[in-house]
Amino acid sequence: DDVEDAEDLISALLRAAVDGQRLTPEEIVRFCVTLVVAGSETTTFLIGNLLHAMARDPETTARLRDDRTLVNVFVEEAMRVDGPPQRLFRIATRDVEVGGKQIRKGDWVALFFGSANRDPDVFPDPGKLDIDRPNIRQQLSMGHGLHFCLGASLA
Ligand code: HEM
Repeated sequence: DDVEDAEDLISALLRAAVDGQRLTPEEIVRFCVTLVVAGSETTTFLIGNLLHAMARDPETTARLRDDRTLVNVFVEEAMRVDGPPQRLFRIATRDVEVGGKQIRKGDWVALFFGSANRDPDVFPDPGKLDIDRPNIRQQLSMGHGLHFCLGASLA
């Protein structure tokens, strides 16, 4: 009964069903482990990186103190320069060529978000923390596409 009424996430997972099929207890436990890793390490590292960025850049910090509406772009830009996840992995679902390299179906591929975030063609002078960049929101530290961070709004 408790599970039927409760509004927390784990109870929602226990109730969830598609065409009558429910998640197994093992799937639910795994998802909870995913949430702990995806939600807590990333956030902890981000907070540390933000403090470091503020300590490194007193000018930007002074602007933030004067105008709190800049906090959002500051977080995005600091995430671009020092993203909590620098790279994650994929397994290729088919043979494909990327940048002149042959990748075969089943190969593990390391995606370096951290490197893309410092692509000088997209972010000129990429090592510089600059909260006036017009395209700050193109940063990839929350991922991209289908697997874009589920907790981004919360984070
Ligand atoms: C600063 C904090 C965070 C950062 C930098 C971050 C980053 C990311 C990235 C890069 C991905 C994509 C993974 C991939 O493409 O393989 C992702 C996915 C995910 N994140 Fe976050 N995340 C943060 C906070 C959170 C929080 C607070 C939660 C939940 C409470 C969360 C839950 C998830 C989940 C469940 C996924 C998997 C989504 C999927 O595969 O469809 N994240 N996150």
